[in-house]
Amino acid sequence: MDSEFKRTLVTCALPYTNGPVHIGHLAGVYVPADIYVRYLRLRGEDVLFVCGSDEHGVPITIKAREQGCSPQDIVDRYHGLIRDSFAGLGINFDVYGRTTSKVHEKTASDFFRKLYDDGKFIVRESEQYYDPEAGTFLADRYIVGTCPKCGFERAYGDQCEKCGSTLSPDELINPRSKLSGAQPIRKKTSHWYLPLQDYEQWLRDWILEGHKEWRPNVYGQVKSWLDGGLQPRAVTRDLDWGVPVPVEGAEGKVLYVWFDAPIGYISNTRELFPDDWEKWWKSEDTRLIHFIGKDNIVFHCIVFPSMLKAHGGYILPDNVPSNEFLNLEGDKISTSQNWAVWAHEYLRDFPGKEDVLRYVLTANAPETKDNDFSWKDFQQRNNSELVAIFGNFVNRAVVLTHKYFDGKVPARGTLEPVDSEVLAQIPELRSSLERNFEGFHFREALKDAMSIARLGNKYISDTEPWKVIKTDRDRAATILNISLQICCDLALAFEPFTPFAAERLRGMLHVGLAAGFDHRPDRDGAAQHTVLCPSPVAGDSDSAAPSCGTDICLDWSMFGSADMLPAGHALGEAELLFAKVEDDAIEAQTARLAAIKAEREAAAAAEAAKKAAPLKPECSYEDFDKMDIRTATVLDAERVPKTDKLLKLTIDTGLDRRVIVSGIAEYYSPEDMKGRQICILANLRPRTIRGIESKGMILMARQGDGKMRFITPQEVLADGSQIN
Ligand code: MF3
Ligand code: ZN
Repeated sequence: MDSEFKRTLVTCALPYTNGPVHIGHLAGVYVPADIYVRYLRLRGEDVLFVCGSDEHGVPITIKAREQGCSPQDIVDRYHGLIRDSFAGLGINFDVYGRTTSKVHEKTASDFFRKLYDDGKFIVRESEQYYDPEAGTFLADRYIVGTCPKCGFERAYGDQCEKCGSTLSPDELINPRSKLSGAQPIRKKTSHWYLPLQDYEQWLRDWILEGHKEWRPNVYGQVKSWLDGGLQPRAVTRDLDWGVPVPVEGAEGKVLYVWFDAPIGYISNTRELFPDDWEKWWKSEDTRLIHFIGKDNIVFHCIVFPSMLKAHGGYILPDNVPSNEFLNLEGDKISTSQNWAVWAHEYLRDFPGKEDVLRYVLTANAPETKDNDFSWKDFQQRNNSELVAIFGNFVNRAVVLTHKYFDGKVPARGTLEPVDSEVLAQIPELRSSLERNFEGFHFREALKDAMSIARLGNKYISDTEPWKVIKTDRDRAATILNISLQICCDLALAFEPFTPFAAERLRGMLHVGLAAGFDHRPDRDGAAQHTVLCPSPVAGDSDSAAPSCGTDICLDWSMFGSADMLPAGHALGEAELLFAKVEDDAIEAQTARLAAIKAEREAAAAAEAAKKAAPLKPECSYEDFDKMDIRTATVLDAERVPKTDKLLKLTIDTGLDRRVIVSGIAEYYSPEDMKGRQICILANLRPRTIRGIESKGMILMARQGDGKMRFITPQEVLADGSQIN
């Protein structure tokens, strides 16, 4: 890669630490970022990979309140879980910090203070909701009330979870504080605002003119924000969880979470390199890339850059690759509804299959539009792509070499056209891979990698070395030699996507990997600066002896060469690269989701049932008194032929025997009705329904969900008793 940069700083959105991460997060941000970082490292680039926990913000305080613990307890719990989930999936950040750390508090505080001292903020007074009983201002999330759009009674001040409408607290009917239940009042308060409108022209020039290569979803969102006109944005809040605002007269105020969190990227870099962090943030030789989800675009493309610009001295992102959303089995992923596949549960349920999730999430990555994850597709991609193509090819090449050539790479003889053709295609696929990696098109890059596996698989199927060996040992040697070289290409091509399998493959081929720099701290916490294997990676003086214990270190520059493995090189043992995913494993997952869905539907139905229909317009007693309502007993009941809904009931009203045709067959069978005492409107004008004269109407109660039940007196009364 020839770039004008000396190093690349890759950041991933810091996950909120109020719950585990799920496949939507992984597909949107963390897997693509890890692929990119691994690719750059393969190319010998100096990369720093930064992430950490976003531990402030109102949702964390709400979760703490719900669970009766402190916000610190919540973030302590999820910080470790999230960090370990990433590590379990091979997503190895150089540093995974926390926004509750001392370093962060100082960094964020100093950052605010500099902008404050330089006069970059404006102060505005506004009215905010305040809980007079609890004596505190209320974030929108802390106000609940009835949704004006759908009538849901527990809508939040910013959103109704029932109908999805975006709300403001003023719109709620009967607003209440979540803290005390009191009715919130409005109270004046002052906050600091960053006047984003002052950065509008600069943002236009920098992004709209200067970064037309950014993904269309990112560029488009930025453009529409800018075209809509930017407004001052409050960077402080009245809250007791966060980084305290470091100026006089700001008691009870903290930095807005979206002000402090992105500064976390800087703090975490400082945490790792207390003395040497500035070259990553302040040198024009550094390329900065933010991987984020689409809900974060405005913060990373407009707000944070404006903050950096206001501060001065910092570099700006060179690209902000952002994905759309991933759905699960056709429905939107929802944390609150537990509609998700959680990373830590996946790792528990599918040990040894970390790569499969990475593979499937990349193959279905929502790069240009929302996409869907389904367990069937997961199984299918594993079994018919990873196992049947990639795994099968590697297995045949390695096993046959052990079988016929004592596990040593056989010498290549004269090439036939089929050999030259296959070898000629690899450099093309390599170029395409490089273009796709560098352009952040990881789905396409994965297709290229898979094309190499397909190519190998087809080559070995077409040339059939297991048959050729019987008549022409030299020819079989050539075929296997070429197949093993292609296995090396695969070890390189798949290292970013399926690093665990790539490692197993290197073991089978008995080769190492020259994979650039690794800045992860050693056990004493000191940052390292090592190369995994000595290799043509430039400029590293610390390289020691080969750490992989092999003679050959694969390096990206070798990709496509037919001489990566010299004749006579001894292979390692064959092992299975991928195992099948069996039906029962998939069924367990789909059953879990089905149970969640059933629970959700039952809860929705119960909610609907409770909802009473609106009141009818007022009527007078005279209106009511016109109706003659009486008790009666069903003598006989039968279905009205050729209808689903109607029952013909013969009843004793105490005055007469008559027939009523009633639309209750959905709810009651004829047997249910026979002998039951009911209430009827006895003086309703007769009507002929399906040729049957119906005299009167049965009184029914209808629930909010449409369920109907007839009304029966608490004890059996004389038929004909009048009801009023
Ligand atoms: N916590 C945010 C989210 O999950 C992302 C924060 S990114 C950062 O959407 F830049 F602010 F750190
Ligand atoms: Zn609503």
